[in-house]
Amino acid sequence: MNKLSQIFEDNKSWAKEILSADPEFFHKLSKQQNPDYLWIGCADSRVPANQIMNLPPGDVFVHRNIANVIVHTDLNALSVIQYAVEVLEVTHIIVCGHYGCGGVKASMSEIQHGLIDNWLRHIKDVQRFHEKELTSFTDETQKFDRLCELNVLEQVRNVENTTIVKNTLSNGKELHVHAWIYDIKDGLLKDLKLI
Ligand code: CO
Repeated sequence: MNKLSQIFEDNKSWAKEILSADPEFFHKLSKQQNPDYLWIGCADSRVPANQIMNLPPGDVFVHRNIANVIVHTDLNALSVIQYAVEVLEVTHIIVCGHYGCGGVKASMSEIQHGLIDNWLRHIKDVQRFHEKELTSFTDETQKFDRLCELNVLEQVRNVENTTIVKNTLSNGKELHVHAWIYDIKDGLLKDLKLI
């Protein structure tokens, strides 16, 4: 059996397993989605939102791109945020980066990578905002780890500065924006606002 046929077989087994625990699972979900969380994460294959949080289908609305960057003119990301906040009424937006992020790493070098450099430019801006702290590192790995963290914190600010989030909060609605980072070396999440 080739790899793709295997995926269809595994999909059948997966759906069957879920139905054996809850025969109404897909039927209920087909009527509506009601997630509490919007996850904004990296497209990296090692950082799958639902699996990391151990949440089933229906529990998390997801937006992923390279290096979990939120740009004020990105209609894709803004539409996701608007729909999640205004229609689905999620109460938590989680911006989750990860250590070892290839996008963040690429932004640290002067080597050109093509079109993507225009996207990574936003992380170069993060480096510029935190130049003083980042130049104090003598260890490149520590600097890389810190830039992964700072990138999350800056992207959280970008989310908080959208008109969507600002208006939601000024209307007194409950909405929390979180800065998390995931370690691909041990599978654990960390809350950057708590450290
Ligand atoms: Co990444």
